[in-house]
Amino acid sequence: MTHIAVLGSTNMDLVAYVEQAPRRGETVTGREFRTVPGGKGANQAIAAARAGATVSMIGAVGDDAFGTKLRSALQDSGVDTGRLRTVAGPSGTAHIVVDDGGGNAIVVVPGANGTVDRLAPADDAVIASADVLLLQLEIPLTAVVAGARAARAHGIRTVLTPAPARPLPPELLAAVDLLVPNEHEAADLTGLTDPREAAGALLAQVPEVVVTLGSAGCLHVARNTEPQTLTAPRVTAVDSTGAGDTFVGALAVALGEHRPMREALTWAAAAAALSVQRAGASASMPYRSEIEALCTT
Ligand code: RIB
Ligand code: NA
Repeated sequence: MTHIAVLGSTNMDLVAYVEQAPRRGETVTGREFRTVPGGKGANQAIAAARAGATVSMIGAVGDDAFGTKLRSALQDSGVDTGRLRTVAGPSGTAHIVVDDGGGNAIVVVPGANGTVDRLAPADDAVIASADVLLLQLEIPLTAVVAGARAARAHGIRTVLTPAPARPLPPELLAAVDLLVPNEHEAADLTGLTDPREAAGALLAQVPEVVVTLGSAGCLHVARNTEPQTLTAPRVTAVDSTGAGDTFVGALAVALGEHRPMREALTWAAAAAALSVQRAGASASMPYRSEIEALCTT
């Protein structure tokens, strides 16, 4: 089985479903409230585990009720939480408004994720035993850089989701094999609004880039190959929270299984399309059999 290590965040998502998100100073009445396990790191871990990999989560939760729930949500999907520390203080939370179009606006309060600022020797050992390391930007950059460097030292493929968008130090990009921004993050990183131009510019810093384009699919570019675009299955979005994480988690599994990039992207797009049709980040992530069924139709 493919082994994926994830170094990243775990948040409890506090989600209000509304017709339209409020503007500044406005109060609107929501339809429904849900608490759903989320966080970009944990989401990618759950997506990969459900897609059929052995997954280890490296990070931290708080010593509150959310922390207990977040740990068991990971375990329920088969994720190993041996390197998920419990620290004093609150767990990470994400305060999310989902509108009727399935779009969202999110405020993340890092809590325990803010304590994940370095790698312990046992974390390094987990990374060394993996086929792929998944990184995002919801923990301190010092740990993200340390993770990417550890993976590089052990010859492990590193996939970075540059979200939430922020300037990236060159030493981080130098240790990343595949960068997966969405179109907005690609624009933030390069100042170029055209995804093709942005992806091309990013190739100066990393060898391979996949820009996710929401319902329009994704764009893949690598050095010395022709750019390729892939369309996504047409679906009605209910809640797109975590769709990008689902895409990355499933993509990592397919790449760990040494599938060709085009096939891996089709598989990842199918997983993401399934997730947007259901509510909640991790709760909406599909299992391997569902992804396979969609890929063969
Ligand atoms: O990528 C989606 C995630 O971003 C949500 O689950 C939320 O926790 C925020 O971190
Ligand atoms: Na969803």
